[in-house]
Amino acid sequence: MSIDEITKKVSDRYALAASTGEQMCCPTSYDMADLKSFIPEEVLNISYGCGTPAGLKTVSQGETVLDIGSGGGIDCFEASRLFGPTGHVIGIDMTDTMLAIARKNAPLVATNLGYASSNVEFRKGMADAIPVIDGAIDLIISNCVINLAPDKRKVFREMVRVAKPGGRFTISDIVADQAVPQYLVHDAEKWGDCLSGALTLTDYIAGMMGAGFLGIHLIKASPWQEIDGIHFFSVTLTGYKIPASAPQPDVRYATLRGPFSRVVDELGTTYLRGIPQPITPETVCLLSQAPLASHFILSSSPLWLDRADNRWTAVYPTEAPCLWEGYFAIFAGPFVEVADDDHHVYRRGEPVEICSKTLRVLETDSYAPHFAIINRADQRVSGEPVTCAPNGGCC
Ligand SMILES: C[S@@+](CC[C@H](N)C(=O)[O-])C[C@H]1O[C@@H](n2cnc3c(N)ncnc32)[C@H](O)[C@@H]1O
Repeated sequence: MSIDEITKKVSDRYALAASTGEQMCCPTSYDMADLKSFIPEEVLNISYGCGTPAGLKTVSQGETVLDIGSGGGIDCFEASRLFGPTGHVIGIDMTDTMLAIARKNAPLVATNLGYASSNVEFRKGMADAIPVIDGAIDLIISNCVINLAPDKRKVFREMVRVAKPGGRFTISDIVADQAVPQYLVHDAEKWGDCLSGALTLTDYIAGMMGAGFLGIHLIKASPWQEIDGIHFFSVTLTGYKIPASAPQPDVRYATLRGPFSRVVDELGTTYLRGIPQPITPETVCLLSQAPLASHFILSSSPLWLDRADNRWTAVYPTEAPCLWEGYFAIFAGPFVEVADDDHHVYRRGEPVEICSKTLRVLETDSYAPHFAIINRADQRVSGEPVTCAPNGGCC
């Protein structure tokens, strides 16, 4: 299938869905009862997202927000409510039927919010040719759209182009735990179902990094569906177009606090917990971003930490038998590689099979935000306990 054929198929699919109010795609976790207080039902009925990128405390007052593939406008309207009357939202979509519904409802939403006029505008355009000038956007959001775009690299490049230096994205999308095979990629119907065009998390994040974003990390992951052994899940990711100038010019060293015992950042520097690492001004910019900043102590002279220091963080595995129950952990940033305190190495996006003991570690507050956990066992497995090695390592 050519790019034009895929695009037409996807657009026709969403035009039909918008005109019939068909329920499709993925469950979102917006509180619809809350949104009903200011967004007309016509918009809520055609909400086809797979996350809540506008509702995750990512929107700040007075910002310019871009929503790629805005559909009926649900995320644009929620952003408008969250940042108040001084902000500005631009929704872009390629499908006329969607744009017509969104434009019709924008003044109604503004009235419901008590704004003098709408601060949401909808433009016709493609995700890979965004109709917005360079460096204009503080926050890019998108909800279940980029998987539908045949040329994702072009989309990521466009995102970097329109973002301000220091700008960021928060994007919800569908990814797969392994490469989607060609028989699904070439199934025209499944493009519109958000399946055929889904990338692995590794490829998705590599595409964003290749375009120029850094500090890419997971905000939320939810399992969605399994087809022919492929697990499709929804992720919400955030990342930054890092500004050129260092926020703290006197910083020369970074000391990893944990909970990981070793990490490799996106610029290729390795850090061992507790040991100061000389860093460049570019790395200072990267490590100053949330959530990287919470993992490090940045200093002007070398600073060592040991276990007795209350800034040292670690989660050690318990001495318990481990059960293999089909769980896999997918590390999702903000580093490209990390190690825990039980010999596991996790490379971003690559599923690692874990036992019950490791699952308990990764479910702790320190680790949980960084991992998507899936279960590949078709049915309940026997879960026979396995004795761990004397050093505690079992997997
Ligand atoms: C799954 S719907 C999601 C709509 C909306 N974000 C929401 O959460 O309800 C996908 C939307 O993206 C639009 N779309 C898909 N591919 C696109 C592309 N390459 N460029 C622009 N819009 C696209 C479709 O027209 C459709 O409105």
